[in-house]
Amino acid sequence: PMPVARAGESGKPTVIAHRGASAYAPENTLASIDKAAKLGFSWVENDVQRTKDGELVVIHDDSLERTTNVKKVFPGRAPWKVKDFTAAEIARLDAGSWFSPAYAGTRVPTLRQYMCRVEHNHEKLLLEIKNPELYPGIEQQTLKLLGNAGWLDRQHLGRLIVQSFSADSVRTVHDLKPALTTAYLGSPTVAQLSRYTPFTDLINPSYGSLSPAYVSAVHSFEGPHGKPLGVFAWTVNDAATARKVTDYGVDGLITNKPDVVRAALEAD
Ligand code: G3P
Ligand code: CA
Repeated sequence: PMPVARAGESGKPTVIAHRGASAYAPENTLASIDKAAKLGFSWVENDVQRTKDGELVVIHDDSLERTTNVKKVFPGRAPWKVKDFTAAEIARLDAGSWFSPAYAGTRVPTLRQYMCRVEHNHEKLLLEIKNPELYPGIEQQTLKLLGNAGWLDRQHLGRLIVQSFSADSVRTVHDLKPALTTAYLGSPTVAQLSRYTPFTDLINPSYGSLSPAYVSAVHSFEGPHGKPLGVFAWTVNDAATARKVTDYGVDGLITNKPDVVRAALEAD
């Protein structure tokens, strides 16, 4: 399969809604991916972690504190780590009210629920394995769930990229499913890049660490599928940065405000 690793035919970068359209709806919820779809975006990004009883859930922080009402519901359970709560306990939490009363009652989705909605919305997913050091075996478990849901079938591989800040995790994912497109989150030096090319198709850096020379250097390496390495930059939330980083030649822009980024690129 053709990895989704380089800028499209238009030459414009792919726009990816970060944690969903997270400037407009609570991050990493079904509401945030519905919002991305409504705005006309097909690519969404999320973060996957694991509950105490082994359920994969979609949430960014290793604690439930910031994005749910866990302090109110379970006041004695500080520091409210995701890994110390069962899926049933997490299902009771409100993951929307912190963002806006309009989203009261929104839940932390399980990965299973999330994938159903991605499918329903005809979206594509940049899935981040978050804090894998806390969750031994999470790579195998995630791929098993994706495989059972059909996401690893040949015809769907162009709709999925798995990324992590952990190079070990990215390598494990690549080894388990070599046809899958993978991304390493970070900005290795050019001298270090050949360590990553056996297992990653993309290098996804914070935009602040980019330069035109770095982007072309990354493009000059080949990934595990014999294609040039791609670059998706995060988290680009304003028009000026979107234009600047696009001029550097990046292949994707990961953003909380996909509409703002699209408008910036269209004005070019
Ligand atoms: O997709 C890139 C970005 O999500 C990485 O940072 O902390 O938002 O997961 P973070
Ligand atoms: Ca992320």
